[in-house]
Amino acid sequence: MPPETYSWVNVERIAHDLFQSFGFGEIRPPVIETAELFEKSVGTDTDVGGKELYNWVDSPRANKAMKSVRWKGKMTASKVSQRDSAARLELEREADAGDFDTLPESDRVALRPEATASVCRAYVGHEMQNLPQPVKLYYIGPMFRRERPQKGRFREFYQIGAEVLDNVSTDSRKDPTKELEKDATVDAEVLEMLMTFFDKCGLRGTTLYINSIGHNSPNCRGAYVEKLKTELTKIKDKLGPDSQRRIDINPLRVLDSKLESEQPSIELLPRVADHLCPDCAAHYSAVKRELDLRAVKYEENWRLVRGLDYYMRTTFEITSPGLGSQNAVCGGGRYDGLVELLGGPPTKGIGFAIGEDRLILSLQESSAELQNSFDETLPGFGTALQRPDVAVAGTSTETWDKAVQLAASLRKRGLSVFLPRSGTKLQRVFDAAHRLGVRVAILVGENELKQNDYVIRVLNPLVPDRPRDFPVKTDDVVLFGKIVKLRQALERALLRLAAGKPELDSQRSMLLLVDRLVEKKLLPAKMAGAVKDVLPTLNRTIHGESLASDSVQWALAYGNLLVNELENLNPVES
Ligand code: HAM
Repeated sequence: MPPETYSWVNVERIAHDLFQSFGFGEIRPPVIETAELFEKSVGTDTDVGGKELYNWVDSPRANKAMKSVRWKGKMTASKVSQRDSAARLELEREADAGDFDTLPESDRVALRPEATASVCRAYVGHEMQNLPQPVKLYYIGPMFRRERPQKGRFREFYQIGAEVLDNVSTDSRKDPTKELEKDATVDAEVLEMLMTFFDKCGLRGTTLYINSIGHNSPNCRGAYVEKLKTELTKIKDKLGPDSQRRIDINPLRVLDSKLESEQPSIELLPRVADHLCPDCAAHYSAVKRELDLRAVKYEENWRLVRGLDYYMRTTFEITSPGLGSQNAVCGGGRYDGLVELLGGPPTKGIGFAIGEDRLILSLQESSAELQNSFDETLPGFGTALQRPDVAVAGTSTETWDKAVQLAASLRKRGLSVFLPRSGTKLQRVFDAAHRLGVRVAILVGENELKQNDYVIRVLNPLVPDRPRDFPVKTDDVVLFGKIVKLRQALERALLRLAAGKPELDSQRSMLLLVDRLVEKKLLPAKMAGAVKDVLPTLNRTIHGESLASDSVQWALAYGNLLVNELENLNPVES
């Protein structure tokens, strides 16, 4: 709910803009799919495709059939039970098993636990191999997993994900080495986009971990898994029950274990990097080279195997501070072959999914302090569900028509306007506006009506001894609104650069913050100079100086350009 939803909308807007600039188009896959889709792709031996999958039987025919089998089973059972309860149990079990196994696949459905499989299904169903390749798609939406809820881990959660799918053409099979290098550039570009995304969101302190798990053949991961199994069997006694169970089902997953007592033994296990086939090793080296080229920082983590079956070669995860044990804010990897597994042509794939809930949590953790310190200059902020830019006050029955028109005109220009009901007393409007954190009100009184002039009232003055009321011409009201908006955008852009830096918390003044940002090398000195040129004019205008001067027009034009520049600034590089 608001105001938290502002953060959600904000990160989603950044995703839409950024992903589209990298050539991705949005796809909205369904929330309900056949259970089979996930069993096949994610795998039934994994948590996500197994015990955590919300699946059920969904067909009137099947439901009816099941009920009748149950009914019959019960009837027979009750008769049998008089003589033999073991036989009754057996009968019930048969009845249940019989139902499920004989159902057509389309009758068994699931709430999606992830969307990669759905995107691949759409690629096959819509014959996207006939489109120009690669096909780049992204999605934002809820996913469902029957997990044990805790901080950052929910049963319904949102993901922002993207997938790149590339049909394997016959041409490309001729020169496999070149092909691997080309693939590596895609891996690196996806990771570059991801890190830019987190940066634009203002998330600091992230770490990108990468690994290669090779591909599933006897001369690559196959041989490694066999070796791992043998070694794990030797140290079985030192492992907990979960890992012991995984030795046979999914030995790679043992590497994922966080159990303290197992760590010394796991660290001594053979490493996948030493068993990659020449192709996979070359691909992994090329990925690292491409990442260096793009100045994307990473750490290698040989234990990063991921919990879904479809991965091959590159796997990656991004962690973020302030999340506790559920600190993975994004996961992904390469999955060549998944489309084929789902009935499509040979296709390569790579993608990721960001946990949006975790992203927001982490952003809140890192900027909470900073936001609080600025709240002192923004009374009311953070307590209201929405914070309008301006209030239109003095809406007596006589001036109501004018107020409505004024509000409409301001809203058309993108301002958020608080317009109380007709006949609301002036003092009540001010009180309500104060609670909403609105900083200025435009008074519509009898005078305004006659002369087409308005009075602007500063509700929460930063400098108490300045006049609080000043007149503006009708046309200038819109100009004033633009100045207020620009001042807020500038503040937001600077706060983004400071996010995650607790030592900048104490800066209550924007001008001081600018200096500290330069000291910390988060803002180039040249841009700081520009902010200092623009900011005083904006401040003076908001606090009563004439709107007529050229400097206001200049500040508005220059300020807008500046905000744009600041929003695109990469604070890490700067
Ligand atoms: P995943 O690692 O299972 O990968 O999930 C990706 C991200 O979703 C996680 O890093 C985490 O931030 C978030 N997430 C997962 N489970 C939960 C939960 N229960 N509560 C809150 N957040 C959660 C995938 O889903 C793959 N489909 C990613 C991918 C796309 N691989 C290739 N393409």
